Amino acid sequence: MSISRRLQFPGNADRTYDREFDFLSERSLRNQTSNPSTNVAPAKPDRNSACRVALIGCGTVGRAVARILCENGDGSLRLTHICNRNVEKKKQAWVQNNVQNNVQNNNINIPSDIIWTDDVASVLSSDVDIVIELIGGLDPAGKIVRSALESGKSVVTANKQLIARHGPELLQLAARKGCQIEFGASVAGGVPVLPALRTGLCGDRLHGIAGILNGTCNYILSRIETARIPFSEALEEAQARGYAEADASEDLDGGDARAKLAILALAGLHTQVAPESIRARTIRAVDAVDFDYAAELGCTIRQISRADLKDSALFADVGPCLVPTDSPFGRVQRNLNLVLTSGQYGGDMAFLGAGAGGDPTAVAVVSDLMFVAQSLAGGAGKKDAASYVSTPAISTPPISSDFETPWYLRFFVRDQPGIVARLAQIMAAHHLNIDSLLQKPGFDKSSLPFVITLEPCRDSLLHPALEEMSGLEFSLRPCLCLPILR
Ligand SMILES: NC(=O)c1ccc[n+]([C@@H]2O[C@H](COP(=O)([O-])OP(=O)(O)OC[C@H]3O[C@@H](n4cnc5c(N)ncnc54)[C@H](OP(=O)(O)O)[C@@H]3O)[C@@H](O)[C@H]2O)c1
Repeated sequence: MSISRRLQFPGNADRTYDREFDFLSERSLRNQTSNPSTNVAPAKPDRNSACRVALIGCGTVGRAVARILCENGDGSLRLTHICNRNVEKKKQAWVQNNVQNNVQNNNINIPSDIIWTDDVASVLSSDVDIVIELIGGLDPAGKIVRSALESGKSVVTANKQLIARHGPELLQLAARKGCQIEFGASVAGGVPVLPALRTGLCGDRLHGIAGILNGTCNYILSRIETARIPFSEALEEAQARGYAEADASEDLDGGDARAKLAILALAGLHTQVAPESIRARTIRAVDAVDFDYAAELGCTIRQISRADLKDSALFADVGPCLVPTDSPFGRVQRNLNLVLTSGQYGGDMAFLGAGAGGDPTAVAVVSDLMFVAQSLAGGAGKKDAASYVSTPAISTPPISSDFETPWYLRFFVRDQPGIVARLAQIMAAHHLNIDSLLQKPGFDKSSLPFVITLEPCRDSLLHPALEEMSGLEFSLRPCLCLPILR
């Protein structure tokens, strides 16, 4: 399956990208990203006439942004400040790293006139045009961003927590001050889905967005799928490879993905939703045996974030779901991200790529910087800053997680006669229709996993039945209940 999408950025007719994503082949993705034709450097303007840029937060993404700006910038952007706490340590690490990588031979040193500082206030009171916020978290990042906008400086950030909670307010502040705030890297890292929603798809009326938005969860689930290892082992492996933090709760329990879904709902569905109001289900309960049963149904398991506008309510949910193995979601392996959008006129669109990592995320940040620099040069800042929130007007619909889907129910029981009859009785009493019953042979009868699938019903109908079933004396673990997305 191959989906083509043409993305055109306003303000510069030459900045048109042709992207072709082949869901079956990561090689094709690598080929696209390394295509030299997309790296043609325009003639460099004078460094003094360039847009002045300050970087606050020189960590994984910040370092990569600084490197691209010094190594590969088009000359329209001039990095003037690098700000971080304990900045001397950062500077030494940078120099050491450059020497190790031999980059000095390629003339990509940081220019000597860059000011390294740990004083955020001095950066904010300087004459920079754009502040890049890459420290993350709500505080002090929120204060820094507000203060920059208040003083008329545009902001580029990758901070999903800040934008998910305060995006509309910050966009309005920017519009009032005649500057811009861009956050293209806050969802799906290097995948240009937010710029596409804002420009290439703004002519459509989107009613649904779904995505694999958390690379950590996708890595863990796809490792359990391919190696049939327990969840705990897959998590340890992800941590050892740097794909998961020591405390990975935000990722595993859906907090990270629902912040990103809230931003997608803002940018694509023009709805304002607090991330906490989106139901998040953990992937911790998914077991290797679930992939065996899912395979019997032609499916695999992925953490899916979905938002659908229906009957003036926003249906939204984040958590593990069964998806067909041969579907776009089923094919996404390791830590890649995929976002699918559904529009009234244009139908379905897909965006696939590296959802995290210093370099891919830095590309999104630098692209935002270039966009802001172009807008500032053309005097379009005010209009562009408002476009996420003003066309069309943003709404705050009621939030529901009461999706109507078929369901996968996995039980772990101590075997005894009459189990299926008891469960069937409860389901019938709650008007639930059983679609199939799966039991693989060979399991220990003292801890027997088996699966019941249900015909489509609303979550609210299923929930009371699950509570009743969880109290049964033969039940060893809470029933794992996953939506089946067809
Ligand atoms: N990493 C990714 O793949 C990725 C992908 C998409 C979006 N993002 C977003 O990008 C942002 C940056 O992420 P990251 O991975 O680069 O984080 P990081 O590696 O932890 O870098 C953060 C940097 O900010 C500095 N910092 C933290 N608090 C500060 C403060 N109060 N004052 C001055 N400096 C401060 C840190 O200094 P210390 O070293 O001293 O702690 C560190 O250098 C976050 O919003 C994140 O969600 C990251």
